[in-house]
Amino acid sequence: MMEAATGLSRFQRIMGDIAPLQPRWKEEFNAFLTRRLRGEPTQYILEIAAFYGRDFFVTPDVLIPRPETELLVEWVIERAQTLSTPRILDLGTGSGCIAATLALELPGSMVTATDISPNALAVAKKNATSLGASVSFLQSDMLLEAPPLGVYDLIVSNPPYIPEGEKSDMQREVVDHEPHLALFPGGDVLLFYRRLAEIGSKVLQNGGWMAMEMHSAYAGKASELFENRPYAELIVHRDLAGLDRFVTVRVDAS
Ligand SMILES: C[S@@+](CC[C@H](N)C(=O)[O-])C[C@H]1O[C@@H](n2cnc3c(N)ncnc32)[C@H](O)[C@@H]1O
Repeated sequence: MMEAATGLSRFQRIMGDIAPLQPRWKEEFNAFLTRRLRGEPTQYILEIAAFYGRDFFVTPDVLIPRPETELLVEWVIERAQTLSTPRILDLGTGSGCIAATLALELPGSMVTATDISPNALAVAKKNATSLGASVSFLQSDMLLEAPPLGVYDLIVSNPPYIPEGEKSDMQREVVDHEPHLALFPGGDVLLFYRRLAEIGSKVLQNGGWMAMEMHSAYAGKASELFENRPYAELIVHRDLAGLDRFVTVRVDAS
């Protein structure tokens, strides 16, 4: 916050390379501090969140990208590297962190990303433009509307997955500031996974994969939705805390 308020780098501050302190720096820093003390996440105050080594613009219209999601992205990158032109669909793109990272890490890829929220899409587009990532964005309700036309090698999604019942135990920072549309799926915690199972069976290439982030407590239940054909080779992946965090599954139409 100090760096953002003053425009000075950490190095400049350590070196004492500071011309007279400007009163407006103090004002700006105090304004940041007041917001922070009220519980607003630093990322929203500074409008920046780090993800996979890049800075993403964020506003309260989008979920702050989480480190767990980097594991999901890492898996997709590894999987897609064998393909010359991977066709990837990111459902519920938010800040666009997944879509833009995949487009940048996988040159030659064709990435399409959707979200129900026009405000989130505006943020995602701004990120893709400033990072130089080529992504096609589309506003769409993945629960009600058909997925974007096409055949895909990979579908990746980090949908809303927190049960309403956990709201009261969650950090105020999250509940009071992050978009509920991004966090809570409503009464049925498996709603988005049911729909992803339908979408994947329609638009994934034979041999294609779906990678979905999920709540550690529901990974087992969500996995059951992918037990039958055309799905095969389901893998539950753990995060660095040892919790079930994302599930990958392959389409096998044979
Ligand atoms: C958990 S956030 C994930 C954001 C981003 N992909 C990330 O990993 O940081 C879920 C996203 O799904 C979007 N979303 C919620 N309901 C949706 C729906 N019915 N159709 C499409 N997107 C939806 C939200 O707006 C939000 O951006």
